[in-house]
Amino acid sequence: MRFHILACSLLLAPLTRARDPDRERPNHNLTVKTTSGTYTGFINSTGPDVNQWLGIPYGRPPLGDLRFMPPKKAPDYGHADAKSYRPVCFQTGNRTGAFWELMPEFQNTDSQSEDCLYLNIWGPRKPVQAKVPVIIWVCGGGFREGGGHAPYQVPDQWIQRTQTHIVVTFNYRLGIFGFPNSPIANKNAGLLDIRLVVEWLKDNIAGFGGDPERMVLYGQSAGATAVLSQAYAYPETPIVRGFIASSAGIGTNNPTNTTLFHDLAQTAECANLTGAAELECMQRIDAPVLQRKVNEANTDPNRGVFRPIADGVSLFANLTERLEKGLVAKLPLITGFTYNEAAAFLPFNINATAPPNGTVSPGAGGLACGVRSQILTRAGYGFPTYVYLFSGNFSNITPRYWLGGMHSSDIPLVFGTHNQFRGNSTEFEWQTSFAIEAAWVSLAANPLADPRDHLGQKWPKYTEASHQVVVFGNATGPSESYVESAEILDMYSGPC
Ligand SMILES: *[C@@H]1O[C@H](CO)[C@@H](O)[C@H](O)[C@H]1NC(C)=O
Ligand SMILES: *[C@@H]1O[C@H](CO)[C@@H](O)[C@H](O)[C@H]1NC(C)=O
Ligand SMILES: *[C@@H]1O[C@H](CO)[C@@H](O)[C@H](O)[C@H]1NC(C)=O
Ligand SMILES: *[C@@H]1O[C@H](CO)[C@@H](O)[C@H](O)[C@H]1NC(C)=O
Ligand SMILES: *[C@@H]1O[C@H](CO)[C@@H](O)[C@H](O)[C@H]1NC(C)=O
Ligand SMILES: *[C@@H]1O[C@H](CO)[C@@H](O)[C@H](O)[C@H]1NC(C)=O
Ligand SMILES: *[C@@H]1O[C@H](CO)[C@@H](O)[C@H](O)[C@H]1NC(C)=O
Ligand SMILES: *[C@@H]1O[C@H](CO)[C@@H](O)[C@H](O)[C@H]1NC(C)=O
Ligand SMILES: *[C@@H]1O[C@H](CO)[C@@H](O)[C@H](O)[C@H]1NC(C)=O
Ligand SMILES: *[C@@H]1O[C@H](CO)[C@@H](O)[C@H](O)[C@H]1NC(C)=O
Ligand SMILES: *[C@@H]1O[C@H](CO)[C@@H](O)[C@H](O)[C@H]1NC(C)=O
Repeated sequence: MRFHILACSLLLAPLTRARDPDRERPNHNLTVKTTSGTYTGFINSTGPDVNQWLGIPYGRPPLGDLRFMPPKKAPDYGHADAKSYRPVCFQTGNRTGAFWELMPEFQNTDSQSEDCLYLNIWGPRKPVQAKVPVIIWVCGGGFREGGGHAPYQVPDQWIQRTQTHIVVTFNYRLGIFGFPNSPIANKNAGLLDIRLVVEWLKDNIAGFGGDPERMVLYGQSAGATAVLSQAYAYPETPIVRGFIASSAGIGTNNPTNTTLFHDLAQTAECANLTGAAELECMQRIDAPVLQRKVNEANTDPNRGVFRPIADGVSLFANLTERLEKGLVAKLPLITGFTYNEAAAFLPFNINATAPPNGTVSPGAGGLACGVRSQILTRAGYGFPTYVYLFSGNFSNITPRYWLGGMHSSDIPLVFGTHNQFRGNSTEFEWQTSFAIEAAWVSLAANPLADPRDHLGQKWPKYTEASHQVVVFGNATGPSESYVESAEILDMYSGPC
């Protein structure tokens, strides 16, 4: 049955395309003028129908007295090539655990630099429309690691296959550099970096063949929290037209200050200072030295955790209050979680042949529950919300049977990279990937309509009256994508 439907849709596809007058207007000009310079991209043999522009600056290098501060727009740097990635931002990380030891393709292993405010753009050479929708990817990593080009998060093959959209990835400042928690610097410079990317794209994406009126923000884990924060921070001017937030929500109550910055200053060469003197001293420390201090402080779980805190600008202390006052962008949201989130965080031994000790799912405590509370809140306010459970368990992504659909295991299906590192995927895995990809693009392409999967099946809104979710990738289910009642969420979120 599944194959029958697929065959029909394949037959129809060329006809639909032939009728689109905007088709066959490829953007052959790889040199694009932007507000931060004129950049020449390239085409790789691995994706002959994909224009790539890598390493375009969107902000001034946040160095010297710009460290810990809101990002500044990049000036016009003149003409340059955009043909290779720039370093990722400085990040914490002891590089242990399943992600680093077993599946490093989820991580950015490139060099790190404080000069890291760069973005990457992938666009179709044979776009199905003159201006295609844009998906802006906000990577996860607990606000302490992550960047714009982890191998599993490179979308070239997705765009090569569909020619339907543009994907943008980027680095934002992390840890103490992005979330210094300093009383007098900017508390959440990293969240402002994300906003600056959105503003840069509004000004410039048309030159790359993108439609600035049809952009969505998509984030996973900490990236999902960051995406949701933008809805509260820019209620009237979100710029984007929709959100996708995977495997995390956003806390309703957020702390307004911590002593982390001052505490760390005591361990660096900035002891016994306060205020501006302390800040200036901390801005002068060599970036790798500062990062090392943070890493050392991290051995104590109560210290060194530089994350967003409420500043009343980019993150608010009381989101319930914002909601009651209507101070939130009421845009459509796709949200959900994977069925085995927690497995990714259990103590990991590369040689183990049995699951590690610990509670092997269901749920990842805060992560899945954060998603669920976001769903209920939004349904209560009647904001358009589309909910999924990712039920995929694919051994070429998570090559240990107890990991299954762990945290992040959905990402390779979105980016179309699932087949690239541990063998080809099954037909079912490919079809699951196509279903998710189509739904994501569908939200960007037409944010006012219910998203559709690759077979044209409509995704029902989650409402207070009708609790429906889409299940992706359940091998024992009727299809790679199908509608289920929300009770299935109870089984896999754990108690909330
Ligand atoms: C490509 O775009 C650049 C920047 O707008 C422009 O200077 C150049 O003339 C264009 N090249 C072609 C072949 O259209
Ligand atoms: C370009 O393709 C080569 C293989 O032909 C690959 O090794 C390389 O990673 C690709 N580069 C980019 C930036 O996609
Ligand atoms: C590595 O970092 C993770 C996350 O911060 C922590 O849970 C784990 O205990 C650390 N491992 C080691 C060996 O320090
Ligand atoms: C947080 O800010 C308040 C008001 O400025 C201050 O009284 C309090 O001491 C601060 N707490 C910490 C942990 O810095
Ligand atoms: C900070 O003050 C303490 C107590 O007065 C002193 O022992 C320490 O040497 C001072 N540290 C620096 C770096 O000045
Ligand atoms: C947040 O705001 C709501 C609505 O104004 C209020 O009922 C609640 O007590 C506030 N929460 C906190 C922790 O202040
Ligand atoms: C895993 O096995 C290899 C080969 O026997 C060994 O070198 C390594 O130390 C083991 N790692 C752990 C964490 O047990
Ligand atoms: C798991 O816990 C049991 C009982 O505490 C212990 O015997 C076993 O060695 C542990 N296994 C691992 C892999 O840590
Ligand atoms: C998959 O579907 C079966 C019913 O066919 C259900 O029992 C199971 O809970 C589902 N698993 C997941 C992870 O969704
Ligand atoms: C994943 O699927 C395998 C069979 O292919 C099964 O043995 C394993 O229990 C599943 N893992 C999880 C976490 O569901
Ligand atoms: C990968 O698997 C798919 C589905 O099973 C198949 O159609 C395709 O030909 C395979 N590709 C390669 C390169 O083996």
